Amino acid sequence: MQQVNFRNLYSRLSLLSLAVMLTFSFSTYAQEDSANEAEQTTAATPAADGVGDAVAGKALFNANCAACHKLDKKATGPLLRGVAQKYDRDWLYQWINDSQALIASGDALAVELFAANNNSVMTSFPGLSTADIDNILAYTSEPKPEPPVAIAGAAGAGAGDGVSNNLILGGLILIFGLLVVMLFLVTNTLKKIATANGVEYDVKEKRLPLHKVFLQNQFLVMVSAIFLLLAGAYFGYGYLSQVGVDQGYAPIQPIHFSHKIHAGDNQIDCNYCHSSARKSKTSGIPSLNVCMNCHKNISEYNGEEDLAMGYTKEFYDGEIAKLYDAAGWDATNQVYTGETEPVEWSRIHNLPDFAYFNHSQHVTVAGVACQKCHGPVEEMEILEQHAPLTMGWCISCHRETNVNVAGNEYYKEIHEQLAKEYGVEQVTAAQMGGLECGKCHY
Ligand code: HEC
Ligand code: HEC
Ligand code: HEC
Ligand code: HEC
Ligand code: HEC
Ligand code: HEC
Repeated sequence: MQQVNFRNLYSRLSLLSLAVMLTFSFSTYAQEDSANEAEQTTAATPAADGVGDAVAGKALFNANCAACHKLDKKATGPLLRGVAQKYDRDWLYQWINDSQALIASGDALAVELFAANNNSVMTSFPGLSTADIDNILAYTSEPKPEPPVAIAGAAGAGAGDGVSNNLILGGLILIFGLLVVMLFLVTNTLKKIATANGVEYDVKEKRLPLHKVFLQNQFLVMVSAIFLLLAGAYFGYGYLSQVGVDQGYAPIQPIHFSHKIHAGDNQIDCNYCHSSARKSKTSGIPSLNVCMNCHKNISEYNGEEDLAMGYTKEFYDGEIAKLYDAAGWDATNQVYTGETEPVEWSRIHNLPDFAYFNHSQHVTVAGVACQKCHGPVEEMEILEQHAPLTMGWCISCHRETNVNVAGNEYYKEIHEQLAKEYGVEQVTAAQMGGLECGKCHY
């Protein structure tokens, strides 16, 4: 009778813990789902005025206008949200195509605007068609996004699965701890009740201490020794293959340059600064002239977004002053002094000399986004190496990634042959020869 009770208790407790585990795992799935839904609803924002494509407009805006204009804040030029409603469409076409010509023609609005902005010259964009401009204006006409409402729980899940996983793990450990204590207490009480009622139950006889049993059993000793050796080799190999892998490497640079502020908050296109990534083997670091295109006009940091991270406006202004010193720019008199000193950026990504990697092949030919290899650069206050850059990393992507054949005549033919050879629709980089040693090793 007593035995049965014990079993019932055990099975109930294990059922209970199973139920608790299931609830935990279901609730995390539910959170992911609601986060996905939130993303989808924000993604679809129709153009406010019905003319033009705001998504295409955003890309054009970032590539051409973001250097001087922001949507909601004055930069070198005025803020642009709602500008389509401020002027006549035709006037806007003329202004954006060639503002200087419009000013020269004596257009009263244009002359006034120019004077109100200290006669700073806006770049001309004769290459933008009226359709392009409509797209840009559609983008600037989008309503200002509401700051996202923080949903308790969902915010935590978004911030990093690590946190919620750790929480769940902690919770489970706690629950199991409690279960062990409960079991112990229950057994004790039952034993007490049993002795009180005079019920017999088998008491374990004293056994040999565990380590003695272990040492007497030669088979067990052998197995353990082999296991330890294997584990040692495994971890040793793991450690050795980490040598020379600098994932997460983020050196302190001579000027604190924030990709978050430039590529994130101000949406400056990667190609504005790393223009050679599209055309050549290397991406390169921009020269100070490129910086000065903007920084002649931007001598201080007036954003708010980044001050929350513990940096101060004085710190950022000081960093821009360092740029001026290096470029030999006298900000008070707005002239170059000619006394330049090169900035020595520390190199972060570096493959060994025997490995060949080509940016344009990946960025232009394959159409791989920078972020696929470099991570969310636009969120990095300090840039760090995101990928391990090991041979295994290159190879596994070549196995997984299909070659981009759209609009590429050269590939179309090879692709058709190979697709037939492998009997598949798509051809991966690996099937195109991306696993051949000679492609990556000189
Ligand atoms: C080199 C910096 C620069 C770039 C690049 C630039 N602008 Fe401007 N923009 C200005 C300045 C400065 C003004 C203020 C008028 C002036 O001084 O000429 C201005 C004014 C304007 C105005 C009038 C705003 C108002 O509220 O009166 C519009 C519209 C405009 N720009 C659109 C654009 C668009 C669209 C692009 C991208 C295709 C662009 N700008 C790129 C500097 C720039
Ligand atoms: C305003 C100019 C500018 C823009 C825009 C910019 N970068 Fe950079 N980038 C730099 C400078 C300067 C450095 C060197 C300093 C540093 O490492 O932070 C750099 C460094 C890097 C490095 C590391 C180079 C190394 O030494 O290995 C990567 C990778 C990179 N940028 C990727 C990007 C990507 C991706 C984007 C677009 C999301 C981008 N950058 C946008 C200026 C820029
Ligand atoms: C396309 C325009 C543009 C270019 C090119 C550019 N910057 Fe900036 N930079 C900005 C803007 C916009 C800000 C933020 C100003 C604000 O928010 O008030 C900024 C801020 C800064 C700051 C202060 C924040 C920080 O990142 O520490 C520094 C330093 C800086 N830039 C250095 C550089 C250097 C070095 C280069 C060249 C490698 C460069 N910038 C190229 C537009 C530019
Ligand atoms: C397929 C992966 C991949 C993609 C996509 C990629 N990079 Fe790189 N990037 C690398 C590797 C690998 C290195 C190291 C190259 C070396 O050491 O020779 C690197 C190095 C760099 C460097 C350091 C300077 C240099 O050229 O060695 C910069 C800057 C950079 N990348 C920017 C970019 C930008 C901007 C883009 C998008 C336009 C981009 N990368 C896309 C893999 C990639
Ligand atoms: C994000 C995925 C990705 C990563 C990571 C990546 N590659 Fe690639 N790579 C591709 C794709 C896709 C192609 C096919 C491009 C094309 O259409 O030719 C390619 C092509 C190549 C080619 C040309 C192959 C041929 O058949 O001509 C070389 C060489 C190459 N990659 C080297 C590297 C090296 C070295 C690394 C690691 C440092 C690397 N790749 C990492 C996606 C990647
Ligand atoms: C897609 C590009 C790619 C291909 C294909 C490739 N390798 Fe590599 N290999 C690399 C890169 C990148 C490294 C540097 C890894 C590092 O620094 O950790 C490397 C490193 C090595 C090393 C040095 C040891 C190490 O792991 O660091 C050897 C040896 C090597 N490769 C041999 C080969 C052989 C043999 C083949 C053909 C079967 C081959 N590789 C094909 C990209 C490639």
